[in-house]
Amino acid sequence: MKMKAALVTDLEKVSIEEIERPRIKDDEVLIKARTVGVCGSDLHLFRGTHAFRKPPAILGHEIAGDVVEIGKNVRSVKVGDRVTVEPQYGCGECEFCRQGLVNLCQKKVVPGTAKWIGVFVEYFNAPEKTVYKLNDAVGYPMGTMIEPLAVAVRAVRKATVKEKDCLVILGSGTIGLLCLVVAKHLGYETVICTDVARFNLDMAIKHGATRAIDPRETDLADTVRQLTNGKGADLALIAAGAPNILDQASACVKKCGEIGVIAMITEKIPFHSYQIVFNEQRMYGAMTYATRDFREAAEMVNGGLDLTDFVTQTLDLAHTQEGLDILSRKKENVVKVMVEF
Ligand SMILES: NC(=O)c1ccc[n+]([C@@H]2O[C@H](COP(=O)([O-])OP(=O)(O)OC[C@H]3O[C@@H](n4cnc5c(N)ncnc54)[C@H](O)[C@@H]3O)[C@@H](O)[C@H]2O)c1
Ligand SMILES: [Zn+2]
Ligand SMILES: [Zn+2]
Repeated sequence: MKMKAALVTDLEKVSIEEIERPRIKDDEVLIKARTVGVCGSDLHLFRGTHAFRKPPAILGHEIAGDVVEIGKNVRSVKVGDRVTVEPQYGCGECEFCRQGLVNLCQKKVVPGTAKWIGVFVEYFNAPEKTVYKLNDAVGYPMGTMIEPLAVAVRAVRKATVKEKDCLVILGSGTIGLLCLVVAKHLGYETVICTDVARFNLDMAIKHGATRAIDPRETDLADTVRQLTNGKGADLALIAAGAPNILDQASACVKKCGEIGVIAMITEKIPFHSYQIVFNEQRMYGAMTYATRDFREAAEMVNGGLDLTDFVTQTLDLAHTQEGLDILSRKKENVVKVMVEF
């Protein structure tokens, strides 16, 4: 049986093609997609800057839908369940898998590759262990937001600095705003967000940021010092790419504070390491999520966390190209673009 799929076929070119519907294995379920999200990493494929995905490739890894078929060994999920999928599974044996760090497994399998179809398809197969049920009250778009929310959960949770007085989030796109939501949830008091787009700054204020500034107009480190009696932030999370972003983050963090890097900055950028030494700061990377982070994000959404505001555009599959163009060129006010089936 055939189905429709959205593929990046060339640089910045999306086509809708008929492909073979996946057949499920005994430990898999078949999901009829209801909403799928466009993510920053889809843009890397779209623009030809992705580390390993090259066209032609099926887009996407953020999905919510209905289970329409289950393999004969599947026990925890049934036909008719509304679900989302953690879009990764590991080898189960390596040192990282044994610690639950599937995100770091060398043999990790992710959608949109030779081993697993992308989610911009009418029917998506997924191993039972990657499937999470959605409560009845959770709409498909919110189910689809669990994946990016899990990225934010990991980034905020990875910090080891104990104080939660002040957090700085550099970049208030989908990931930055979701970090804000998670940080408020975990009890950060003062959260200062940056962005270069007015709409995103307003969105940050709406979702509880103490201050939201354009760092080209207002000095970030000064703002942080003013709001922390000169101490600096406990933590800074980098959720945007810019040549000066590491220095900006380091300049606003206190002694013994931390810098978490989430943004996938693929080119080399300069960094004055002196500040980090002088102030004994720590820097860490946050790569997607471990399964426990995904579970926590699913629990937050199933518990009623509403992220509706962040879905700024909803298009149909035929308009996937437009969705990527909007996100890529920021030609409209945009946080999350979703495709609805
Ligand atoms: N580590 C991971 O697992 C992971 C997962 C998802 C996304 N990412 C990466 O995180 C980054 C953010 O993703 P996103 O989906 O939120 O992207 P996005 O495009 O929605 O958000 C980026 C935001 O940064 C803003 N921005 C641009 N220049 C800025 C600057 N100089 N200072 C402050 N803000 C600036 C933009 O206006 C935009 O609002 C991307 O690099 C993406 O590839 C990483
Ligand atoms: Zn994503
Ligand atoms: Zn492994």
